[in-house]
Amino acid sequence: MLYQLSYQINLLLFAGANIEGLFYSAMDFGIFFLRNGKFLFSEYLWKVNIFLIGFMGSGKSSVGKRLASRMGMKFLDSDREIEKQQQKKIPEIFKKNGELAFRQMEKEWLQNLEVSNAIVSLGGGTPCFEGNMELIKQKGTSIYLILSPEAIVSRLIKSKNVRPLVEEYKNDREALLKVVEEMLNKREVFYKRADLHLDALSVDADKLDQLGNIIRSKED
Ligand code: S3P
Repeated sequence: MLYQLSYQINLLLFAGANIEGLFYSAMDFGIFFLRNGKFLFSEYLWKVNIFLIGFMGSGKSSVGKRLASRMGMKFLDSDREIEKQQQKKIPEIFKKNGELAFRQMEKEWLQNLEVSNAIVSLGGGTPCFEGNMELIKQKGTSIYLILSPEAIVSRLIKSKNVRPLVEEYKNDREALLKVVEEMLNKREVFYKRADLHLDALSVDADKLDQLGNIIRSKED
């Protein structure tokens, strides 16, 4: 709805105005904005991006893929994209380049991200470093997938994914729980800034549809 309206307003502006006038009128409507010295079409278009954030194992990728296919949106996973860019898997990046370098890669990837109509699953640490949460909030609507430390631990133990920050604790449930609780304590302040919070313990079709409706209603 808002998309169509913005688009129509945009076309009208193009038809009538000179460039300077166009810019200022368009700014009034929030249709253009300046970033990295470039004018980008439509702040609104950015707003239709959905960022899924939350702790490792909270189901961001699986919820993201299912939500994207229900809503006819693109799906992106920041870890997979960084792996493609670097031609290395995440554990190898941590081992060869270190966590700090990985955080820099995440930041740059997010800064350069220019998509619209996409559901983006972010690495568990992405919102918690380098002022990324600000960027996430500028670039779209964010959803925090909430899960208790116990549920996170159960999922991490079952998961086949290698996660460098918790790998060494995977065979010791108690130790893993302690680490997860400590990390979550520090990270939750960032996650909680998300626009929407979703109980991620079981995300069935109804819950996905409800979420889709909320997202769409935020766009109108
Ligand atoms: C990390 C989470 C991982 C991955 C990396 C670091 C973190 O992504 O980015 O291992 O700091 O929480 P997932 O949350 O998809 O497991």
